[in-house]
Amino acid sequence: MKIMAFNGSPRKGGNTDTLLEAVSLGVSGADASLDIVRLSELKMSPCIACGGCDKTGKCVVMDDMQALYGRISAADKIIIASPIYFYTLSAQTKIFIDRLQAMWSRKQLLKAAGRWQPDDNHQGYLLSVAATSGPRIFEGAALCARYAFDALGFTYAGDFLVRGADSREDIKKDSEKLKQATDFGRKIAVKVNLILTKD
Ligand SMILES: Cc1cc2nc3c(=O)[nH]c(=O)nc-3n(C[C@H](O)[C@H](O)[C@H](O)COP(=O)(O)O)c2cc1C
Repeated sequence: MKIMAFNGSPRKGGNTDTLLEAVSLGVSGADASLDIVRLSELKMSPCIACGGCDKTGKCVVMDDMQALYGRISAADKIIIASPIYFYTLSAQTKIFIDRLQAMWSRKQLLKAAGRWQPDDNHQGYLLSVAATSGPRIFEGAALCARYAFDALGFTYAGDFLVRGADSREDIKKDSEKLKQATDFGRKIAVKVNLILTKD
């Protein structure tokens, strides 16, 4: 099983990083491995809405995103991991998601040709962390992630959302959260479907 995580935090050793390390432990414990991509280390431009992918299913923008398309296509499970910035995903994460438009176009082209095979085992998860603790703090991020997964033909299968973590070390000090994140990773790897949020 191929499990990938896209980490949209630019802060090395920060809360998203630490949570993903804990998730990775859980995934490894279930005899799988987590392939983590740090989006902030890639050269990635925003979607330019040229419409090129409508005709070909391929993105014309030649940058580091090109190397990710094949890896995403081969993945069984995907985790979008991002801190909350202004009530939504970080810009790094959003650029990545907008560039998935090419994969949405590819899906439409395959559907039109009768060659699209839905796969219920393709599941997406959101991991996110925010400084504050408002009840609606993850709503924007969750909606965005849900429809990003939909563009890929993945089901939004669960999330791991942490409120009240702001300084870089906050999650490192929270052994309970780390344990829960490891358990979340283990469950993803053993294919347990976690429907934690609703529309
Ligand atoms: C540009 C920016 C915008 C932010 N906006 C919010 C926000 O709207 N709500 C919130 O609760 N936290 C906000 N935060 C705080 C981060 O979500 C928080 O520090 C988080 O733990 C960072 O995760 P990281 O260490 O993985 O980067 C913001 C932080 C930055 C840098």
